[in-house]
Amino acid sequence: MLTIDEAFRKFKTRLELNDKEQKNASARQTEVRDYLDTKFKIDRSFLTGSYARWTKTKPLKDVDIFFVLKSSEDHYRSKAPSVVLTDFHNALVAKYGDKTKKQNRSINVDFGVKADADDNTDYRVISVDVVPAFDKDGDFEIPDNDLGRWIKTNPKIHAEKATAAHQAYSSEWKGLVRMVKYWNNNPRHGEKPIKPSFLIEVMALQCLYGGWGGSFDREMQSLFATLADRILDEWPDPAGLGPPISNGMDTARKNRARELLLAAGREATLAIDHVRRGRNGEALRAWRELFGPKFPLS
Ligand SMILES: Nc1ncnc2c1ncn2[C@@H]1O[C@H](COP(=O)(O)OP(=O)(O)OP(=O)(O)O)[C@@H](O)[C@H]1O
Ligand SMILES: [Mg+2]
Repeated sequence: MLTIDEAFRKFKTRLELNDKEQKNASARQTEVRDYLDTKFKIDRSFLTGSYARWTKTKPLKDVDIFFVLKSSEDHYRSKAPSVVLTDFHNALVAKYGDKTKKQNRSINVDFGVKADADDNTDYRVISVDVVPAFDKDGDFEIPDNDLGRWIKTNPKIHAEKATAAHQAYSSEWKGLVRMVKYWNNNPRHGEKPIKPSFLIEVMALQCLYGGWGGSFDREMQSLFATLADRILDEWPDPAGLGPPISNGMDTARKNRARELLLAAGREATLAIDHVRRGRNGEALRAWRELFGPKFPLS
């Protein structure tokens, strides 16, 4: 039978990007770029966000693509964020149909790919988030519809912080982040406990400290406990540019997230206890229940 360590390693690998998925993401990027080039003056586009940092979970959806506009499109910057978002939305609906959604900072383009019961998509990306962006003093400005203004961001700084954290944690940090994000997406919660899921990564920059202890189950147990402990705090943008990442939840939602994180911590404790009592199968089932179908039972 699979040991808990083997199961976690398999789980970790299942949440990693593979070559086929990267090919599909690149092909989608090119396809959307070729189309948007006929509508806007685009300087360059690139895959970014958690996808580019290796902290995206599965199934692959909402892969972020920045579309950096040329200065000839600068007129948008003096207008409300909704103007550029609406123009991008109208353009993308014309090609991708009604499932195309205008969001707070991006347009979500859904390719109609469905995940199966095991969360597999035959290595295809479900959707991308098209983010209109402008260069700004080495950073970027992107629209924020809720705030009604443009915000600054810098994906390079986020990527550097993630890389540093990963290295300081025996190269296990990104895997742990993907696992907690997968827990967060488990449909048994109904609404996601933590929103945006980027907050999990931002918190993990501080909540995973002291170095990798050597066992996934103990790491998870203590990570859930620490996240519960600190979910009510304010979490600024790690790059010091945009609005706090913790602004995505009101107090009620933060309290709900706290309860669910505490419950996850208790489930982790029970799973660890099963192993101590020689009940390996029970432990595997407990972790599977906690995370979802990508956690292996065999
Ligand atoms: N409040 C913010 N201020 C500045 N930059 C932000 C802020 N929120 C998000 N970002 C940047 O935009 C990127 C895309 O945001 P998004 O919410 O999709 O997060 P993500 O890291 O891609 O996580 P997910 O796996 O949920 O897609 C983030 O990775 C981060 O680089
Ligand atoms: Mg994203």
